[in-house]
Amino acid sequence: MDEHTNDALTKTGPGTLMGNLFRSFWLPVLLESELAIPGCPPVQVRLLGEDLVAFWEPGGEMGLIDALCAHRSAPLFLGRCEEGGLRCIYHGWKFAANGQCIDQPNEPPDSRFKEHVRLRAYPLARRGGVIWTYMGPDAVPPPLPDFDWALVPESHRFIAKYIVDANYLQNMEGDIDSSHGSFLHSALGSDVIEGAHLNRKGYKYEKYLMKSGNPKFFCKDTNTGVLIGARRPAEDDSWYWRITQWLLPAFSLIPEEPHHAIICNMRIPIDDEHNVFFRIRWHPERPLSEFELYQCREGGVLFSETEPGTFRLKANKQNDYLIDRTVQNLYTYSGIKSIPAQDVAVQGAMPIIDRTREHLGSSDLGIVTVRKRLLAAATALRDHGSISAPSLSGEFRVFPVATVLKREMEFSEGADESLHGRDLSLVSKNPDS
Ligand code: FES
Ligand SMILES: [Fe+2]
Repeated sequence: MDEHTNDALTKTGPGTLMGNLFRSFWLPVLLESELAIPGCPPVQVRLLGEDLVAFWEPGGEMGLIDALCAHRSAPLFLGRCEEGGLRCIYHGWKFAANGQCIDQPNEPPDSRFKEHVRLRAYPLARRGGVIWTYMGPDAVPPPLPDFDWALVPESHRFIAKYIVDANYLQNMEGDIDSSHGSFLHSALGSDVIEGAHLNRKGYKYEKYLMKSGNPKFFCKDTNTGVLIGARRPAEDDSWYWRITQWLLPAFSLIPEEPHHAIICNMRIPIDDEHNVFFRIRWHPERPLSEFELYQCREGGVLFSETEPGTFRLKANKQNDYLIDRTVQNLYTYSGIKSIPAQDVAVQGAMPIIDRTREHLGSSDLGIVTVRKRLLAAATALRDHGSISAPSLSGEFRVFPVATVLKREMEFSEGADESLHGRDLSLVSKNPDS
């Protein structure tokens, strides 16, 4: 890859090729619990290189507006959240959720100056435990994406958020690279071991993943992204398929065997050198079990421990990701405890990976295809002014799968029922879609 293409894929600030693509989608920005009730303290947000503040005024409007006051740039994060808007504590100017200045108490009472003052503002919407924003140019935003995890009852899902010190793309590329699972996340023996994700109790097919580290990749473009099938030998007449659903611009649904809880990873750029990583585990049909919730909250493997009161991983670059060389020698491939930390450790060597140094092999086909899809979508947006994906909200309600298919079957047809899951007519009944 040349330097120009690497820049095009990784830079997401205002006016950039990829920045414009991200801005045409609803993006997850906060957990609902971070802006929990009307009148709660405002929250500082940095997204796609823009500094903003989110608030929920007591009258019920949520806003995401410029971080600095339009008067003389005081931080609005320190402001007073009042009925109708957020008030700057420097001279009392007040801004509504749409960014409009609605009060200037240090100006004459009959002044109309405030009518000419407006801050940058983006809409916020709550769905599925997450607060979403649309930072694009359209006055009417596209519909919110109908991710299955966002439509199931709260009891069916667990959501974690992490701040990661790396460009979004290198973390996302791990999500679509099924080949690393046989190494990075594996155990040395065949026993189920803490710190290794593979060969878990109740999973029939993971033995095939352990046996073969060189899957053959097959990719298919969909309306909203790319279907990535990684094929490994199963029995004499069958293949083991891990089929990832990658969705524009940075959402990945990680394959699991049918009837098990599923993971969705979302990698949203904070700026070019940091991203916010939302990791969701959900079950489409039932509440998560006590054991599944234990794995999410306390297990420390499927999800990571964070520094108290922060979204930062306890295992981080400064402490060498708490790598335990004894565990690495005896039990697990990496010696690093949690899966998110294992990923971040190998993906965070530099803030933006220098892709001119890469030597891509056949197992990198998924990554190559997704990069092309990103560039094609961003170029179509630049040249034609729109892409269809953001308006196809129902097509985000798809599923990944890890399954075994007869060798003669084409993977996307063989697994079609699993990939499209439950009755999609439910989507249109959702009140806020
Ligand atoms: S800087 Fe905000 S009111 Fe003056
Ligand atoms: Fe991984």
